[in-house]
Amino acid sequence: MVKNRKPIIAGNWKMYKTASEALTFVRELQSAVSGNEDVEVVVCPPFNALVPVVEALRGIGIAVGAQNVHWEEQGAFTGEISPGMLKDAGCRYVIIGHSERRQFFGETDANVNRKVKAVLQHDLTPVMCVGELLSEREDGITEKVVRDQIEAGLEGLTPGQVAGMVIAYEPVWAIGTGKTASDADAQQVIGFIRGLVSKLFGEETAAQVRIQYGGSVKPQNTASLMAQPDIDGALVGGASLDVESFTGIIKAAAGN
Ligand code: 13P
Repeated sequence: MVKNRKPIIAGNWKMYKTASEALTFVRELQSAVSGNEDVEVVVCPPFNALVPVVEALRGIGIAVGAQNVHWEEQGAFTGEISPGMLKDAGCRYVIIGHSERRQFFGETDANVNRKVKAVLQHDLTPVMCVGELLSEREDGITEKVVRDQIEAGLEGLTPGQVAGMVIAYEPVWAIGTGKTASDADAQQVIGFIRGLVSKLFGEETAAQVRIQYGGSVKPQNTASLMAQPDIDGALVGGASLDVESFTGIIKAAAGN
């Protein structure tokens, strides 16, 4: 089956790499993936490295994303960063609602929704993360958990806004554990998400929104995940920190 959505492979570096390490990485990445037109590539460095990485990648065709954002334009919010600041830094994407933010920093669905709306106002593309805990999967409530996160996170958006976004399905038990969801399990939940988007925002929106899988993605498991009809790319943690493995993932997603 031919998908008409361009696959998107994003590296979420989490709290790794100094600015100089980031620059070395993107210079090597650039030569390793040059000429690739089939896959959209994004790197999401920590805040310290955003501006230098944007500058190093100018005109190269690799986009830059941030890992978090606040929903206010500016103000007395110590330690936070605004959508306008990220736009000004040259970001195109913003990861919102990653499970580590939900688990360790009290991020709620309501906050995720505020952040999604705020970044859209600045013409940035949200990468909204959803996913169940191991206990929730074992209790058989994966679809309910994901449905609640999607409905709340996308609340009040227009079909056009949702169509241009990226959603990342990251089962929490698969993150950093080496335990990837099986191709069938990942497809099952991502297909469910697409069906839900269709119900909420219409078929056309569901056909356009890109939905990534995340959780222990490696070069060896990328091709079969990407072959699933509803999986449009990957949000990669650990394996995105190394040029060789990240390049391997990009090449596997491009089918070579
Ligand atoms: P790993 O690829 O290290 O499992 O992390 C996935 C992730 O959290 C990406 O956002």
